Amino acid sequence: MSQDTPVSQMAEHLRAQLRHHNYQYYVLDAPTVPDVEYDRLFQQLKALETDHPELITDDSPTQRVGDIPLASFGQIDHEMPMLSLDNAFDGDDMRAFDKRLKDRLDQPDTELEYACEPKLDGIAVSLLYEDGKLIRGATRGDGSTGEDITQNVRTINSIPLRLLGEGYPRRLEVRGEIYMPKAGFDKLNKLAVSRDEKPFVNPRNAAAGSLRQLDSRITASRPLEMCCYSVGIVEGELADTHTGVLKQLSGWGLKINPEMQAVTGVEGCLEYYTELSARRDALPYDIDGIVFKVNSLRTQQRLGFVSRAPRWAIAHKFPAQEELTEVKAIEFQVGRTGAITPVARLEPVFVGGVTVSNATLHNMDEVERLGVRAGDSVVIRRAGDVIPQIVSVVAERRPVGTEPVIMPQSCPVCDSAVIRLEDEAVARCSGGLSCPAQRKEALKHYISRKAMDIDGLGEKLIDALVERELVHSPADLYHLKHLQLSKMERMGDKSATNVLNSIEVSKQTELPRFIYALGIREVGEATARTLAMHFGSLEAVKAADEDMLQQAPDVGPVVARYILSFFRQPHNLDVIQALIDAGVHWADIEVSEQSVPLDGQTWVLTGTLEQLTRSEAKERLQNLGAKVAGSVSKKTSYVVAGAAAGSKLEKAESLGIEVLDESQLLVRLAELEA
Ligand code: IVH
Repeated sequence: MSQDTPVSQMAEHLRAQLRHHNYQYYVLDAPTVPDVEYDRLFQQLKALETDHPELITDDSPTQRVGDIPLASFGQIDHEMPMLSLDNAFDGDDMRAFDKRLKDRLDQPDTELEYACEPKLDGIAVSLLYEDGKLIRGATRGDGSTGEDITQNVRTINSIPLRLLGEGYPRRLEVRGEIYMPKAGFDKLNKLAVSRDEKPFVNPRNAAAGSLRQLDSRITASRPLEMCCYSVGIVEGELADTHTGVLKQLSGWGLKINPEMQAVTGVEGCLEYYTELSARRDALPYDIDGIVFKVNSLRTQQRLGFVSRAPRWAIAHKFPAQEELTEVKAIEFQVGRTGAITPVARLEPVFVGGVTVSNATLHNMDEVERLGVRAGDSVVIRRAGDVIPQIVSVVAERRPVGTEPVIMPQSCPVCDSAVIRLEDEAVARCSGGLSCPAQRKEALKHYISRKAMDIDGLGEKLIDALVERELVHSPADLYHLKHLQLSKMERMGDKSATNVLNSIEVSKQTELPRFIYALGIREVGEATARTLAMHFGSLEAVKAADEDMLQQAPDVGPVVARYILSFFRQPHNLDVIQALIDAGVHWADIEVSEQSVPLDGQTWVLTGTLEQLTRSEAKERLQNLGAKVAGSVSKKTSYVVAGAAAGSKLEKAESLGIEVLDESQLLVRLAELEA
């Protein structure tokens, strides 16, 4: 910029640049300059405005956050009511909706074009722009009257204070959803916990709470975004389709959902629904369904409204991920390592697509954080494959006479003392393998598929064998007699023979399985394999000291200490010897560079493989030294994409990670295993 440019022009030039970079960064998520450059321009403008306060405009990027808190929110009457949507819960509802429209339009055989968008789970708001300037922001309220939240919406960076480009209507009311992305929510809650503050229950509540602040500086500190999905008052011309209008909004600097798409007919809608449901958990924000709208605005007009909802739109809801239920009791379970876990027994409730009747409470810190008691009404959440969890207690529904939960002093199963070490969140039964609960869990682990894989010996049979004192340690399994088994409940001659056969077959095993089966704390399947590949024999693992153990990939000081302490306990050595004496055997592994050609590499498998099962592919890769991970990151070396691979494949492509298909994987495995 040359010296003789008038200061006001310079200020306007800086503003235009800042608006552009703001749009690239917050709306398109594609910044073109580094943050420091944005900061430099911002500081330059700020300095200019400090020297020349008369140049400050209220749509200047420096004016987002007001410093005077409001006494209360004003009210705003919506010139056009903010409507709600009808819901569909399955394909039949959707087909009925489509048929209603076609019948009403008298075109039973012509497919309608629909605009599809995710239904964001946030707060509906209206923004009013006059001559391109944001002049007002309001909540939906009851649809006719909302609250004036102008101060707060101005702090949200994806909302332009001035529209970009030109050609926008003189008055333009934009409607959309303000929401908190999942990552921002997690960060905000971590911060709250670290400050001993109460975390938010979910991103929607966090967004609502953040918008309801009278002090906009608080709102400004919250990671909020806005995505636009329709218009209200328009004084001027707009495109003649819904998707066309939204694209215009995007051109003027407003954020629209990148998943928006136009499809033909109800079957197109259902395909979109299925595709997005599969990616729901991977989306960076919460959604609770898909909104389908007739794309032609003329057709929308012909269809009109019924009471408070348009005929031409519908929300196809996902099964609820949160539900209300009652805690019948809180019990304590004893795990394989003695960990005593409080578990809530629930009035069964259908949530996230399954019936849930138990929810782990993890440890007493969690019980205290939630303040949960038997008898409470609680919000249960089950999202995707995540285990069901209690999100919060509905305090006002607590019945009289409930009691706080107390950690038992002695093990509920064996009565041994319960000990909680200072640096651990969990309390443990001190009974070790004398505790039947720990014994049962240790045995169940020993026989499990990824350990010794003794099929036929189910969990119920283990419980019964331990209860009858027929089995104390894994070695006892190998001394079971046909008569003992056939006399057990629901066992006959044939099943007893089958069980004995699979026990016999399991004697011939592999070193990684055997190490995993021992149930050493923190030694999962992958670490057991690493130990086997690194040391080659059980003797070598046993003989290793802490430093040597840490030489194995992925073994840190904590795991090394657990391994060491396991092999120092005479009781464990006795069990191993008894197993070997009973005939359990394996081949040692030759330790050489050759056996780990994929050492240090991380592979991710996604989609459906046709010639291999996932676990076969995983095992073969691990045998070659690779780590097989569940999610794609910058550290991923290769992604194997089978049929119908979804978001992991997309992520790999976006990170530029090499992707192999199944046949390429097979060729590579064959070469390396040769
Ligand atoms: S359209 C006339 N589109 O869902 C059409 N709504 O009951 C009005 N919502 O409160 C809404 N995402 O806040 C529309 N892509 C989307 C949406 C969406 C979320 C919310 C909206 C409204 C509720 C509908």
